Amino acid sequence: MKVRASAPGKAILFGEHAVVYGKPAIAVAINRKAIITIREGTDDAINVQIPDLDVYGQIDIDNQEICLINNEETSKTPSASSDTSSTSNDLSYDAGILKYIQTALFSDEFKPDHGLDIQVDLEIPIGAGLGSSAAITVATLAAAARYHRQELTLEKLAHMAHQVELEVQGAASPLDTTLSTYGGFIYFTHKEGALKIKPALEMPLVVGYTAEPGNTGMLIERVRKLRQNHPNLIGPLLDTMEKLTNEARDAITSGEEKRVAELMNINQGLLDALGVNTLELSDLIYEARNAGAIGSKITGAGGGGSIIAYCPGKTREVLEKLESVENAFQVSISQKGVTW
Ligand code: PMV
Repeated sequence: MKVRASAPGKAILFGEHAVVYGKPAIAVAINRKAIITIREGTDDAINVQIPDLDVYGQIDIDNQEICLINNEETSKTPSASSDTSSTSNDLSYDAGILKYIQTALFSDEFKPDHGLDIQVDLEIPIGAGLGSSAAITVATLAAAARYHRQELTLEKLAHMAHQVELEVQGAASPLDTTLSTYGGFIYFTHKEGALKIKPALEMPLVVGYTAEPGNTGMLIERVRKLRQNHPNLIGPLLDTMEKLTNEARDAITSGEEKRVAELMNINQGLLDALGVNTLELSDLIYEARNAGAIGSKITGAGGGGSIIAYCPGKTREVLEKLESVENAFQVSISQKGVTW
């Protein structure tokens, strides 16, 4: 028995962080996915391999403990201890992905009663603000549903995936899991969920990402503390982000290229004020603008991770520039969400 499911990552154009406080956001599913393959196990454990990250782990069926199996040839194992295994409390960032898989697999619906071999293939860089954890979670749940021959509506899948993110991260908006489930170009509100946007202009986008991963949970917590310490400042700042996102939706649907770009740049200034910028991200943002992007900003949680650049007529120039500084790729919008 072998099943496979895949789900796309995402890039946020407007409204990250504000969306955690009930504000709207605009985001696209991207042409890069997480692919999960589940096979019947060769022993009693759940063996998970993520070859792209050199991460190999085992999840105990009875106590759900994650045990990382060190690969001597890799440095991507938890801290440089001489142990041959580690438990879930001291997982490195890469290996932290196992926590999403474990939580998704052991959700009430799909509790495994025999060993499984799970392979995770990643086209999305992790910790880059591109929704890798949501894509992995959605694809794992979809694959598990297929494996157990259970019906799962997209609505239920999106809901379950959000619960997994909440459990693992402590805080998360449903934005990432919604995009990984449904795909497309969306305006997201907490009240109405994902509303499809029909852009009246081309959206040539380039993502540049740093080697340094951003830790979403930590960054959400940082913003929460800032808001707590400065309620009179951060409250109105989040309100401004809401207005900005709503203006951006109008600008996108009425084809106002320059206005979209200006709003991206203003959004960047507000994200900087929230304390989620870094020197490396700033560098990429200004390199992109110097190479011809008319708008550029952090995408996702920040603190490392990625920027997104809007570059009508200058995609090649911006891509080449960002590639010369860090890593970059051109984004195309995936209209497809989860596939299983
Ligand atoms: O960096 P990512 O892909 O985890 O995106 C985080 C986006 C936030 O708005 C900061 C958090 C959220 O859950 O929406």
